[in-house]
Amino acid sequence: MIGTYLQGYHLYTPLEDQRVLQNLDKKMNKILNINLQKVPQHVAIIMDGNGRWAKGKGMERVFGHRNALTSIRESVEAASDIGVKAVTLYTFSTENWNRPKYEVNALMSLLVSALKNELPNFHKDNVKIGAIGDISNLPKKAQKILATVIEETKNNSKITLTFALNYGSREEIVNTIKNISKKVVNNELQIEEIDEKVINNHLYTFNLPEVDLMIRTSGEQRISNFLLWQMAYAELYFTDVLWPDFRKNDFFDAIIEYQHRERRFGKTSEQIETPNE
Ligand code: IPE
Ligand code: IPE
Ligand code: MG
Repeated sequence: MIGTYLQGYHLYTPLEDQRVLQNLDKKMNKILNINLQKVPQHVAIIMDGNGRWAKGKGMERVFGHRNALTSIRESVEAASDIGVKAVTLYTFSTENWNRPKYEVNALMSLLVSALKNELPNFHKDNVKIGAIGDISNLPKKAQKILATVIEETKNNSKITLTFALNYGSREEIVNTIKNISKKVVNNELQIEEIDEKVINNHLYTFNLPEVDLMIRTSGEQRISNFLLWQMAYAELYFTDVLWPDFRKNDFFDAIIEYQHRERRFGKTSEQIETPNE
């Protein structure tokens, strides 16, 4: 029946098939609305709302975390499809240690099993894995699998997927200041040489491009200690969708909204419209 599309489905296909095709159209339109010349290089995501999603279904919070994996897969695939070069996912914050022990343990086991299971897919999709945060304080098992996955995917090049783990922006800044100070004390660096570039090079994100777009799901409108320095000029996008419901089209919605924003970086609108004047 779908073949009748060629003859103009509005005229020839039965009602049911028309609905299928129209939904298909709607889905395809989203990606067609994206300007591939204006795609953000680096998208950072605060994956929020797993607990509420599970609770809404009468389930334990951990059920929500388990259902977050499909959303991760879809987001990375969507990003890769349109040429985003880096995606960074807020996976476990320095503050998340304050959650019940049971939930923290479940999140750590989930991390280990997901990284193990996804490794073949990372290769298939040419995804390079990275991690930011104070990794040395994660459970040994998590550190081990992370090191393996990072090493084994280091030559992949389509997109870089970075997990923020035991990550807090303030901790990162403290760590950066310590490392820079050590170099000053050892005479490897002069105080006068410290500038934004030097600071960038000492952050966990030293090898990532600037964050262009930050997406947060679940309706919360805050940064929660994520990439404070790196987001200085990022566009912020908030959606009510809970993370386990987030799909490719939700990602494309964020990109379309991003492309409607005017990034002025302190300039006037007129300067952006006619750059040569
Ligand atoms: C995000 O979902 C996952 C992590 C923070 C690890 P939450 O677990 O914060 O879900 P809500 O915000 O309680 O619904
Ligand atoms: C931020 O979400 C951390 C992650 C998504 C890993 P939270 O749910 O922990 O943030 P708050 O506590 O609501 O700000
Ligand atoms: Mg939350």
